[in-house]
Parts: sequence; structure tokens; C-alpha cells
Amino acid sequence: MTQSQFDVIRKIVEDVTGIIYEDGDMEFMIRRLKPLALRFGCKNFEDFLEKAKKGTTVVRNNLVDAVTTRETLWFRDRYFEPMIGGFLLPKLAKEATSAGRSKLKIWSAASSSGQEAYSLAILLAEGQARGELGTMRMENCQIKGTDISMAALESARRGRYDGVAMARGLPPLLKSKYFDALESGYQVKERLRRLTSFDRLNLLQMDHRRDDFDMVLLRNVLIYFTKEARAKILDRMATKIRPGGVLIVGGSEDPLRYSKAWTRERMPGGTGAYFTPKH
Ligand SMILES: C[S@@+](CC[C@H](N)C(=O)[O-])C[C@H]1O[C@@H](n2cnc3c(N)ncnc32)[C@H](O)[C@@H]1O
Repeated sequence: MTQSQFDVIRKIVEDVTGIIYEDGDMEFMIRRLKPLALRFGCKNFEDFLEKAKKGTTVVRNNLVDAVTTRETLWFRDRYFEPMIGGFLLPKLAKEATSAGRSKLKIWSAASSSGQEAYSLAILLAEGQARGELGTMRMENCQIKGTDISMAALESARRGRYDGVAMARGLPPLLKSKYFDALESGYQVKERLRRLTSFDRLNLLQMDHRRDDFDMVLLRNVLIYFTKEARAKILDRMATKIRPGGVLIVGGSEDPLRYSKAWTRERMPGGTGAYFTPKH
């Protein structure tokens, strides 16, 4: 791959996904694209570039799958269980019930292969079993997952994980409670899968319609984008959350650096922070 081919391909990647490949990332890009170029029968990167420029849906989808980092794990981050399971879900459930609403609407934006969405479903089930959701029934709650990668969405919808994926962050007790062992791997139980749905969404192309999510998780994805893209996504995300609803980002991410639409809140007595829209 030459420098100018790298420049063209990273511009296409940025336009399609918002993801930035820095000057020093050429080797990384080559490692990610070479298998794809071979699969498409390209003799060299020049050939591959021609295909990428034409941008048929198949090529674009495969390109997106190749350039996205879909690293994820169960619960991920120390705050996840205590802040979301122990504090926010009970709080939001009780507030919703007092306001006459019978469900929580939750969105895992950039859901990758689904571990984040199913971790939320587990926390709802655990919260209900401990009586912490008041009269709210988990069966009424909705967890929507979205991602730009079709490969990620396919795995998320399937809800099947191999031993390696299962070992990453999932306590053994929860494994036996919420998964069925298959001949090879594990399947998320139907009572959790029923709460979830997974759809394609490019965060850079979010529409302008207001929405009424109680909780949005936007974790470990903004880091790949330009400052402008982060600001645009965060500003728009504020219109998707109901007053009193919350946004949760990754451990090292800070929405206040990019957008004025948010207020930081702290979990009482805990270390976790979350964000509420100013509207
Ligand atoms: C590192 S994973 C994070 C998964 C999960 N949120 C977590 O924290 O474990 C980042 C995900 O963002 C998705 N992604 C990248 N660019 C995107 C975009 N423009 N719109 C939507 N999803 C995107 C990738 O496909 C990938 O699945």
C-alpha cells in the first residue's frame, strides 16, 4: 500500500464510519484490509481501491466490518454493575412507575456483538429478582442495540458465545443462570433475548427526531472519531433521552469536553459518573 492509497482509503473509511486512521496507522490498516482484498480476488491494493471507490453495498459492508474495532466484554468497567445495576436501574424504574410508565427503554449504541445489551438484560433480571425495580416488570423493558457493523449485529442477534468470549467478564454464577450450554458455546436464554433487538445505525447519521430513552450507553466508540463527530453525536444524543434519563460512557470518556448538552452526575457514595441531558 502506498501513502496515497492509504490516504484515499482512510478518507473513504472516515466518510463512511467517522473512524479516524492516524498517519502512523498504515501497517494496521494493511493488516485489516489484506484478507478482505484477497477475499474479493484483488491482485493488489490498487485493485481493492477501485472496488472501494465504487462502493457497492457488499464492499462497503465488508470494509466497515474490517476497519471497526469490535472489542467488547461482559459488564466491562468496574462501575457497570454497582452503578447501573445497583443504582440507576432501580432509580429509573421507580421514577418511571411513579410517572405512570410501565417500561424502561434502554439503548446500547455501538452494541458490537451484544455483550453490553445482554449484560443490561442480566442486570434487569437480577434487579427484579432482588425486588429492586419496585413494580416494574423486566418483561416490559426494551433494550435496543445498534451498530454500524453487520457482522457485529449478526453475532448480537444470535446471542451465542464461545468459551473465550464467555470467560471475559462474566461471573460463573450468572453464566449458569442466564445461558444454555450448547455442544459448542453458550446461548443467551430466551427470557433475556426477548427484551433485545438489534438494528443497523451509523451514529453519524442519527436522525433529528426526539426520542424518550431512559438510559443510553455510548461506550468505547467516540474514541475512534474526530472531535467534530464526537460533538455532533453527543449533541444529537441529548435529544434521544427523556428528561431525567441518563447517558453512560466508557471509563475514560468525558462528554463535557465535546458538548454543552450534558450535566455530570455522580453516583452517591460511589466512584461512577453518568450524564443527564440539560433540556
Ligand atoms: C469497541 S466496540 C464497543 C462495544 C461496546 N459499546 C463496549 O463498550 O464494550 C465499538 C463499536 O462501535 C461500532 N462503530 C464504529 N463506528 C460506528 C458508527 N459510525 N456508528 C455506529 N457504530 C459504530 C463498531 O462496529 C464496534 O462494534
